Amino acid sequence: MIRIENLYKSFGQLQVLKGINLEVPKGKITVIVGRSGQGKSVLLKHIIGLLKPDSGEIYVDDKLITRMSANELNRVRRRCGMLFQDAALFDSMDVFDNVSFPLVEHTALDEEEIAARVARTLALVDLYNVESKWPAELSGGMKKRVGLARALVLEPEIMLYDEPTTGLDPITSAQINQLIIDTQRRLQMTALVISHDMTSTRQVADQVVMLHAGEIVEAGDVDSFFNSNEPAVLQFLKGEAQGPLGESERNHAS
Ligand SMILES: Nc1ncnc2c1ncn2[C@@H]1O[C@H](COP(=O)(O)OP(=O)(O)OP(=O)(O)O)[C@@H](O)[C@H]1O
Ligand SMILES: [Mg+2]
Repeated sequence: MIRIENLYKSFGQLQVLKGINLEVPKGKITVIVGRSGQGKSVLLKHIIGLLKPDSGEIYVDDKLITRMSANELNRVRRRCGMLFQDAALFDSMDVFDNVSFPLVEHTALDEEEIAARVARTLALVDLYNVESKWPAELSGGMKKRVGLARALVLEPEIMLYDEPTTGLDPITSAQINQLIIDTQRRLQMTALVISHDMTSTRQVADQVVMLHAGEIVEAGDVDSFFNSNEPAVLQFLKGEAQGPLGESERNHAS
């Protein structure tokens, strides 16, 4: 479904991606893990053409997206839902307008159909009667779920989730994970999920990929990932169990 070949990306002196090769199989959930600042979000943004690689190619359904015109790229984006890490809502629009935005932009549905679809999608993320609320009136977790509803409302074939459960309580996280699994099964969706959360990773992943120092150091099913002997994976899993931030992560966070 998505194929990345030899992808390189730098920002000035900073080499972020150093030859990434990755296949994201159709109808499956691939989880990308890795420490903060390793280029996970940068990788995701390449897939919908928000960033251009320095070199390398990306194919979505055998179509080369790295050389597409803006129009062609729009057609691909129409098939992709993306939940951004910061999940920014439009602050000047209420929840209804935020979630219906993609429907208004990309479909010919009438008002009634749009209203029904918005309510149905909000119910998927466990939100009811919030259509007339403003983003400023919502909790962080509610905002995240509204962002998720907006990403899902077009029922895309491909969903890209950048840390969908970060900042959510364990119960809401588990619900979001279940939602990721359910929508993927119901719509035969191809999903790429970035996660720091090993519980989520275990719960949702068909394939786990670890990004470290600009390269993919491990790719395999859940069992092979959690039993990996790869030093970067071992260190990551150990750090996850211990908790406190390492030196480079503290620097990154500043
Ligand atoms: N548009 C940009 N311009 C310059 N540098 C950037 C840009 N986007 C990302 N970077 C840098 O690229 C590196 C990787 O960033 P990225 O956001 O992909 O990290 P990440 O793996 O998603 O981390 P986190 O887990 O904290 O979200 C960082 O050092 C970041 O500062
Ligand atoms: Mg990120």
